[in-house]
Amino acid sequence: MALRGKRVLLIITGGIAAYKSLDLIRRLREKGAAVRCVLTPSAAEFVTPLSVSALSEDRVYQDIFSLTDEAEMGHIQLSRDADLLLVAPATADILARMAAGIANDLATTALLATDKPVMVAPAMNVWMWEHDATKANCALLAARGVGFIGPVQGDMACGEYGFGRMIDVPDIVDAVVRHFSGGALAGRRILVTSGPTHEAIDPVRYIANRSSGKQGHAVAAALAGLGAETILISGPTALPDPTGVTIIRVESARDMLAACEKALPADAAICVAAVADWRIKTAATQKLKKNGGGPPVLEFAENPDILKTLSKPGNKRPRLVIGFAAETENVVENAVVKRKTKKCDWLLANDVSPATGTFGGDANTIHLITADRDEAWPTMTKQQVAERLAGQIVDFFGTDA
Ligand code: CTP
Repeated sequence: MALRGKRVLLIITGGIAAYKSLDLIRRLREKGAAVRCVLTPSAAEFVTPLSVSALSEDRVYQDIFSLTDEAEMGHIQLSRDADLLLVAPATADILARMAAGIANDLATTALLATDKPVMVAPAMNVWMWEHDATKANCALLAARGVGFIGPVQGDMACGEYGFGRMIDVPDIVDAVVRHFSGGALAGRRILVTSGPTHEAIDPVRYIANRSSGKQGHAVAAALAGLGAETILISGPTALPDPTGVTIIRVESARDMLAACEKALPADAAICVAAVADWRIKTAATQKLKKNGGGPPVLEFAENPDILKTLSKPGNKRPRLVIGFAAETENVVENAVVKRKTKKCDWLLANDVSPATGTFGGDANTIHLITADRDEAWPTMTKQQVAERLAGQIVDFFGTDA
């Protein structure tokens, strides 16, 4: 009865996956949760209020302008009485309205008025999920601390295939249980590097790379979501700060290393940043001018390797050091060698050749390499990669004395 005494306000919105919410109510209640439901008008086209009410053994809230509803339980109280607001299925429409702060029905009013955590299980057509508008809405909601459960890849009711399918009901229940377990990584301090580094040429120019920071930021958000004290050391990115992490902003590789060393000791370090391998040996202190002498010759110097430095044996070495390998060919072979050279514990290799769209994109295909494992993960969103990695970190510390 992992959810005994917990009150979940389940907001069911209108998608074909709404029928699964009936099973969700049943399984949350089996774990001991009290489930109260809000049904949007379009959800009521897919499931009947009667079945929702029968399974939740409570009345179903549908209408913000219903005098009876307001008399029995005002919408503000409805949203505050719960310990968690769970939107499942969450359509593209409700995610958009949540992101915009629109409160034009009972569901969105409860979501805007709440002072409690909110989790969503998105369900929609693959094109809708991959639309820039949805991506921007999800990024905004995630940055505000909304927990995402799924979606997953699969066949859709509309006949298409791809991301957007609601994650299976038992996985939603697991995520809710994890949410209430106080955080499986509570008490752990974890460093995450993210983004590119900028290496100065002169005061106005720099060398950079195409890293967006999305994967590193998603890892930090997932760890913080599990209760880890998360220190995110980030190069310049356009991303919002993930909720619940301590962010340290840096520019160059040397700054990033210094910030990491200062942030030690830590239980784990995860180097996701795309650190520039080289910097300009002596950056000009004044802007380089075209003075008729032809283009400048830039002399490079090698940057410190942060992952390698953190992996060095010693009493400050985190117990678990993880790297990400960006490869454009022979991904697994190169990554196996890279893990040994850098002496990190795990390496997540990904193909970043332009055709994959990994750099700057939202999906990633990972190969996890450890001393005794070689796991090919299916293509998933960067957020899902982060959640899966966080789950494996939980398992590691669970068995680590
Ligand atoms: N890394 C680091 N410091 C560097 C270079 C890389 O911490 N100066 C880390 C990255 O954060 C990543 C891992 O090392 O976790 C692998 O980075 P990658 O760019 O794939 O490898 P490189 O070491 O740069 O090797 P190469 O360019 O030869 O592929």
